[in-house]
Amino acid sequence: MVLERQCHGNTQLPRCWAKLTETDGADSRCETAAALLARRSAPLRVVKPAPEPIWKAPAPKNYTGYFDAAVARLKAERRYRSFVDLERMAGSFPSAIWHSPQGPREVTVWCSNDYLGMGQHPAVVEAMTRAAARHGTGAGGTRNISGTSHPIVELEAELADLHGEEAALVFTSGYVSNQTGISTLAKLIPNCLILSDALNHNSMIEGVRQSGCDKVVFSHNDLAHLEELLQAAGERPKLIVFESVYSMDGDVAPIRQICDLAERYGAMTYIDEVHAVGMYGPRGAGLAERLGVMHRIDVIEGTLGKAFGVMGGYIAGAASVIDAVRSYAPGFIFSTALPPSVAAAATASVRHLKTSPAERQGQQCQVAQVKDALIRADLPMLATPTHIVPVMVGDAEACKAASDRLLEKHGIYIQPINYPTVPRGTERLRITPGPLHTGAHIEALTQALVETWKALDLPFSGLALEPQERMQPAGKMRHSQ
Ligand SMILES: Cc1ncc(COP(=O)(O)O)c(C=O)c1O
Repeated sequence: MVLERQCHGNTQLPRCWAKLTETDGADSRCETAAALLARRSAPLRVVKPAPEPIWKAPAPKNYTGYFDAAVARLKAERRYRSFVDLERMAGSFPSAIWHSPQGPREVTVWCSNDYLGMGQHPAVVEAMTRAAARHGTGAGGTRNISGTSHPIVELEAELADLHGEEAALVFTSGYVSNQTGISTLAKLIPNCLILSDALNHNSMIEGVRQSGCDKVVFSHNDLAHLEELLQAAGERPKLIVFESVYSMDGDVAPIRQICDLAERYGAMTYIDEVHAVGMYGPRGAGLAERLGVMHRIDVIEGTLGKAFGVMGGYIAGAASVIDAVRSYAPGFIFSTALPPSVAAAATASVRHLKTSPAERQGQQCQVAQVKDALIRADLPMLATPTHIVPVMVGDAEACKAASDRLLEKHGIYIQPINYPTVPRGTERLRITPGPLHTGAHIEALTQALVETWKALDLPFSGLALEPQERMQPAGKMRHSQ
């Protein structure tokens, strides 16, 4: 397109024009600056070349047909997800109201990631309501515009202290923390090679992908494979990204040994502690804290939406790393900040769990009781060293049917976990016991599962072992430290 711009009596030449005449001086259609100034009185005019005739396919009449077909594909593949309409009630968690087709009904929730029930803790609820009354609702903009509120600054200080790091940066979710955090970090390291665990969460995979850097995937928790790849990478900068607790199998990373390798081969480390913060370590900083290796990790990522019971995500690390992400990460720069009330509630939750081990101990106790009860009932539970208790079904339809029966017949809510969240053939019910589940809840859960397994003719574990033996971490869970 050729631009022919003329000023309306302005004595100053517009900058864009000056540039155009300088660079395009050879083009006879461009006017010189002097000629332009001489023709001040004429109006601005854009001259476009005649458009090329473009052949266009007739617009489809029914766009919704594409979407119907996409959903039909999911249904045919038995991957279509339906949601249960639940109403959580502060003060009575894990009970909730299920708005069933027949009307409201009380049920017990066994699959929440509000792992410790902090979403209804009086100190957290009070912090949120007080902050909303004081500061109003929204943040008022991105952090660069007007979204940096005092409660967010306080929260970041609290998180940096939690992880013993110089600084922390809060995002609108754990997903965004990984996606924009990993991609920004890796982009800022020239010629960076990312080494990523094969079972990393989608948010980390997206972060790796969006960095545009070279990546290699090491087999899940496989130290020998990781070392082989580190060796092959040579002297170039390297970033290892991995999780501490893997949320579907409930297994844990060999964090200490990964740190050893990272130090030996000069790699930077990035750990996702989303399923560990609040629950592990003396102050709830996660599995790395529990193992005494937190100071050896370069960047720790966590969520405020699971054990802390609120919403948001963060990274913590050296001040220079955090400052660089703050300055370059699009997912941070271009998104409205967390509301002050959410930040205040998260701060209250983090502060509480730093000094209160009661919730962690309560959770561990109930987890052990559930595992013991399921083993006694011969249910096919995956042995895990964590709070995540997967009961294996191995078929998408059967898994959905078991979940439906538990809800409808027994008033127990456990969402089925199907492909692509887990590989096909490993469909499961993922149970997350918490400190607010009682002995009576556990008894009811076990009976309901046994009834469901019998009614649907699902396989029991068939292991005639003593509970002591069966509790040993199996196969790939051997890395627990
Ligand atoms: C390992 C892992 N990382 C990150 C996230 C995202 O965290 P958030 O739910 O705060 O977005 C999840 C969510 O389940 C997760 O499982």
